[in-house]
Amino acid sequence: MCGIVGYVGTKKAYPILINGLTALEYRGYDSAGIASMEENKICVMKDKGRVSNLNSIPGLTDLTGTIGIAHTRWATHGKPSKENSHPHMDNSETFAVVHNGIIENYNDLRKFLTDNGYKFLSQTDTEVIPNLIHYYFSKESGDNKFLSAVQKATADLKGSFAIEVLSSLYPNQMIVVRKDSPLVIGKGKEGYHIASDIPALLEYTRDFYLLDDYEYTVIENNSISFYDKNLNEHSKEIKNIEWAATAAEKNGYDDYMLKEIYEQPTAIRETIGSRLKLGEPCDFSDIEISKDYLSTINKIYIVACGTAMHAGLTGKKFIENLCKIPVEVDIASEFRYRNPIVDSKTLCIFISQSGETADTIAALKLCRENGAKTLAVSNVIGSSITREADYTIYTHAGPEIAVASTKAYTSQVVLLGILAVYFAEILGSQSQEAIENIKKDILELPQKVETSLKSADEVKAFAKQIYGEKDMFFIGRGSDYNVALEGSLKLKEISYIHSEAYASGELKHGPIALIEKDITVISILTDENLVEKSISNIQEVITRGAKTFIITNLDLSNAHFENVIHIEKTNPLLSPILSVIPLQLLSYYISKEKGLDVDKPRNLAKSVTVE
Ligand code: G6P
Repeated sequence: MCGIVGYVGTKKAYPILINGLTALEYRGYDSAGIASMEENKICVMKDKGRVSNLNSIPGLTDLTGTIGIAHTRWATHGKPSKENSHPHMDNSETFAVVHNGIIENYNDLRKFLTDNGYKFLSQTDTEVIPNLIHYYFSKESGDNKFLSAVQKATADLKGSFAIEVLSSLYPNQMIVVRKDSPLVIGKGKEGYHIASDIPALLEYTRDFYLLDDYEYTVIENNSISFYDKNLNEHSKEIKNIEWAATAAEKNGYDDYMLKEIYEQPTAIRETIGSRLKLGEPCDFSDIEISKDYLSTINKIYIVACGTAMHAGLTGKKFIENLCKIPVEVDIASEFRYRNPIVDSKTLCIFISQSGETADTIAALKLCRENGAKTLAVSNVIGSSITREADYTIYTHAGPEIAVASTKAYTSQVVLLGILAVYFAEILGSQSQEAIENIKKDILELPQKVETSLKSADEVKAFAKQIYGEKDMFFIGRGSDYNVALEGSLKLKEISYIHSEAYASGELKHGPIALIEKDITVISILTDENLVEKSISNIQEVITRGAKTFIITNLDLSNAHFENVIHIEKTNPLLSPILSVIPLQLLSYYISKEKGLDVDKPRNLAKSVTVE
């Protein structure tokens, strides 16, 4: 969603800001803007459309200020337009603000400010912030007027925010604060860099301050100061993030998504890391879940959104099969409003690549309030969810930039598999032999994913045949159904083709009515125990004229199907990690055939930080 960039240093700010906004483009946006401190005047340049449009605004290249704020906006309140773009200023043009999040009480605040003579130029919730800062500033006296006004204004805000504030009266300062919206500050060689997420800043530094809610931060020249909610100053630890500086670059690939698809063997290898070795217990020493605690658990919830939720569906199969604990998987935005039955005997697992998804974080807080222990699975060190959860385990997929998740998904599935093995070891719910067998299968995954990737040419050829279609179906049984769901989501996200995923056994309960000549049905078929039933389902759609594309690890030669992609055999629980790869490639190549922007699909955001 919206992206924030800021810079306080010794270099010209505007090129750094535009560079940062470009690095954040993947988050999804519809307008962009910057503000640069020029002597004692704040100069704002903004418009709807792409970041690159900013380069054609007259006067941009004349900016010389070394302090600036910048923003990409994903419209919520008010359509995409120049007026609604950030930065926003107060009526006197003394304060400029960029904001990520939603101010839920903005109507009340707008009325309050209007009653006090303020005028509004946009339809945004954000515009109340600079005016509210001005309102409090005009009533302040003393040394710390700017900081104090920002504190008082933000104390009035309900909802979520990450903001940067400039004031023409304090031309060397920037104030930064967040609540429930991501914001990090990097310490570079030539100044401080602020951004909504770490990949945008890897070019400048790997040393980051990860701000807590209501931690007011004043950055001035070469110094940074942190204050708590009551403006008491404190020191703050800087964290070194190990991601390589080039990890967020395309490295010769046409698109981030393709790069990330091909990074999966490495991402999985890194995620396995030293957690899993043959002949040794799994190493989760970072979370240390005790046998006493785990034995009291009678139910596990896995809660997430989008692709992460699909990873959870496979996680359920791992845990139920290996640990014999019932698992319910839910979409975070549903779970949090359905009065879920959660208590101290429930373990709640939350999966979020970004660690910033608003609904997933809210669901976690709900479970914690109800006395459950919470475990986060995230890819981003220090992200909000990891700071809320009792336990955190990390996937080590490296930064994922493409909106459509690929390597994060397979890494999440692998990590959930290892977690289930760890729980099974603690509980003694599987024989040593069964544990060793699945460990061996997990360790072989990176090499088997390489084999799945070799299907690229065949998949591309099929994509060329079907890219013009309007509707498709994905079918499968058991774990294959979970992969069908993910394949269908990938297709919708980046190719804008309508598709539905169905459990094969449900076809006759409705969707088969939609099967007619030449409609494409994509089948995943990896479970030996279900092969005959699944083959019958495929025959049924072929009889009605469907064109099929089949991903399998079984010998289907007797059935004489066309368009069959073979993947390697593995433990049936793990097959989603191999069978999803051709589906990721299929969506990718269809999107390319259609000439679409694979990495930045319309209307979507990488990290959904508002409800
Ligand atoms: C958005 C992204 C998806 C992602 C989902 C959950 O919809 O476009 O790719 O799966 O959010 O994101 P999270 O960061 O919580 O895994």
